[in-house]
Order: sequence, then structure tokens, then C-alpha cells
Amino acid sequence: MSPDFPAYAPSEEHEMLRQTVRELADAKIAPFAAAVDEESRFPQEALDALVQNELHAVHVPESYGGAGADALATVIVIEEVARACASSSLIPAVNKLGTVPVLLSGSEELKKKYLTPVAKGEAMFSYALSEADAGSDAAGMKTRAVRDGDHYVLNGAKMWITNAGVSEYYTVMAVTDPAKGAKGISAFVVEKSDEGVSFGPKEKKLGIKGSPTRQVILENVRIPADRMIGAEGTGFKTALATLDHTRITIAAQALGIAQGALDYAVGYVKERKQFGKPIADFQGVQFMLADMAMRLEGARQLTYHAAIKSERAMHGEKVPDLTFVSSACKCLASDVAMDITVDAVQLLGGYGYTREFPAERMMRDAKITQIYEGTNQIQRMVMARQLLK
Ligand code: CAA
Repeated sequence: MSPDFPAYAPSEEHEMLRQTVRELADAKIAPFAAAVDEESRFPQEALDALVQNELHAVHVPESYGGAGADALATVIVIEEVARACASSSLIPAVNKLGTVPVLLSGSEELKKKYLTPVAKGEAMFSYALSEADAGSDAAGMKTRAVRDGDHYVLNGAKMWITNAGVSEYYTVMAVTDPAKGAKGISAFVVEKSDEGVSFGPKEKKLGIKGSPTRQVILENVRIPADRMIGAEGTGFKTALATLDHTRITIAAQALGIAQGALDYAVGYVKERKQFGKPIADFQGVQFMLADMAMRLEGARQLTYHAAIKSERAMHGEKVPDLTFVSSACKCLASDVAMDITVDAVQLLGGYGYTREFPAERMMRDAKITQIYEGTNQIQRMVMARQLLK
């Protein structure tokens, strides 16, 4: 491994970054997390704090004005923001998801034009793959892009788009040749201000209520042909190659949510007295805490391992098991986060079931990590295909 790449374990700089983000998140993001959830409103305070501290899109390379953080550092940022507020962690996570297609396959012009404003915090970038009838079967999309001279004209509706409406830019996958299936799909950058772009109503969700999820509706959206990301017909591959990098960031989000729930539960059981002593003194409670922490640390190590592989692949190294480890860490970390947050609610008893305490919010937020960027059933299918191929 080149000395330029981070070692397997987080370096001293990574740990310093964690400390910085944790302090910032505790001071500037956590205080608003309950209100953001309760009011289903965008976490503007978090965006402001992240932009002020250049933590909103740390993965953007220095050559485009970004911090040039490696994939492990990006994971740590997302993890620490999610520990305070899962909705807010979608700011750095989705900025990465939206821009990785451009980073992987875009022209130099596209990179300069679109990564620079994201690095400066002037624009956010979302990813538009899914449709109402094309979720797990992403290649079944119907949105069309038809060439017209030097332009493409896009028509269709992308669904479940995270941060839709607040993002300026969108990577949109659309069918350019319906006869070719997955090979007839191309990727484009669409701007919020392009004529014909509109957004559906905000979905009313179980969790991550601070992050708007809306349809991106495209009605005769005419964009210059040079907004295509990569060559015609390569959009589906770019979309899946992107997920190989960004499923790791969903694992990071899950780790953060789980850590937040575990930390809260540990504090609670030391304070809460029953039968004349803190409930932390009961072995049944201790065993629960130990299992929670053990499984969380296992998922964390797999996620960091995958992040290092992602970084190496981003530098052009061949990493044959990236698809496997990316799906594996997303699947493991999200399943673990679901269990840990349910256990945290249990440890808080009746209080855990109320909105006066954060555990139930964390439990609701954890659920989405088992669903988006590919359901955990799809992750298991992807892993099995890698094993059997
Ligand atoms: N990288 C690059 N190319 C890949 C790839 C990868 N990881 N995996 C597959 N491909 C290629 C294949 O090689 C194939 O190309 P060839 O024919 O040239 O070999 C092509 O892509 C099609 O592959 P498949 O035949 O495997 O495609 P499929 O239709 O069977 O689908 C799938 C595969 C794994 C089910 C895929 O559709 C999938 O991952 N579905 C889940 C969708 C998903 O994750 N959606 C997330 C939405 S984004 C989101 O949720 C974000 C958010 O809100 C935060």
C-alpha cells in the first residue's frame, strides 16, 4: 500500500478530526436534533455549522477547492454528525453520493463546474436513481433522455430523492436507449434551476424527518449534451460503482446513530435507580450493554476497512472486493444500528418510548439505513453474487 494512503487503523489526524466534529456536533447540531425531527424541518443550523467548519463535503478533492479528506475521514465526519442528528448527517453523506458519479466518470469541465461550488458550501448535490416503479430493480427506470442536437431533453419522475429541493444539483440517471436495458442508461447533471424541474411534496416519514425526501419531476428539461456524466450508456455502471463507495457512508451513518443511542443508554442506566440501586448494577442490563458495544465495534471495524478500500479504489487501484465489503458493512452496520437503538429504548423503559428522550428518534432514524442505498435484502444478494461468480 502506498504511504500516501491511510493505514488500516485511523491515524492520529483521524482521531483529532473525530474530536473536532464531536465537539461541533454536540454544541451546534445536537441541541436542534429533537426540534428538527418534531417539526420535520431542514437542519439549517447544522448546514451553517458544517459549512463554517468546512465539514459539509470533506471528500471533494483539493484540486476543486475541497478539503480532500480520504474516505475514512469522510466516514468519521458522517458518523460523528449522525451521533448527534441523523438528518444532519445526510448533508455530508448526500453531498458525497451526488458527486461521486462526477468524480468517477465526469469530464474535467464537469468536475470543475460542479464540484467547486459544492466544496465552497454554495450548493448541495443529490442523487436521483430510483423511481416509483424502479427501486430495487433500478435498471427498470422509465425516465427518458432524448438527444436533440447539442442537447438532451429529459422527461420522467425520480422518487425518494434525499435532500431534493434543497440541493442545487442532481445526478439523474435516465434511459437514452430503451432497447439496451441497463446499457441504455446514461447519467446527467441536472440543475434545480433548469426549466422544467420541479419537486413533489415532502414525504411524511418515520424518521430522518429533517432531511426532505421528494420526487424530482422532469418535464421537457432541456440540458446541454456536455452535462452527460461519462459516455452514453454508461450511467447504470456509474450509478452502481458510486454505491460501492457510498454504501460505506450509510454504514457510517448507522454507526453514528447506534453510538448516540448506546452513549445515551449508558448514561441513563447509571442514573436510573430501581430496587435500591442503579439499574447498571444488574447483570441483565450489563449483558445488553456489552452486546450492543461489541456488535457496534465489529461493524465499525468492517466499515473502516471498507473505507480504506474505497480510498484505494478512488486512487485507481484495483480493489476486487470493494463491492462485497461495501455491501457487507452497510448491511451489518444498519442491522446492528436497528438492534442497538431498539435495545436503547428498552433500557430506558417507559421513558424510552416517549419523545422526551432521544432513544425513540434514534430507533426511527436507524430504520432507513436498512432500506436506502439498496435494501439489506439487495445487499445480501450483491454479496452472494460476489461469492458465487
Ligand atoms: N460497479 C460497476 N458496474 C456494476 C456493478 C458495480 N458495483 N455491479 C454491476 N455492474 C454492472 C454489471 O457488470 C452489468 O454490466 P455488464 O452487463 O456489462 O456486465 C450492469 O452493471 C448491470 O448489472 P446487473 O445485471 O447485476 O444489474 P441488475 O439489474 O441485476 O441489478 C442490482 C443489480 C444489484 C439489483 C442493482 O439494481 C441494485 O443495486 N439495486 C438497488 C438499487 C439501490 O441501491 N438504490 C439506491 C438508491 S440511492 C439512495 O437510496 C440514496 C439515498 O436516498 C440516500
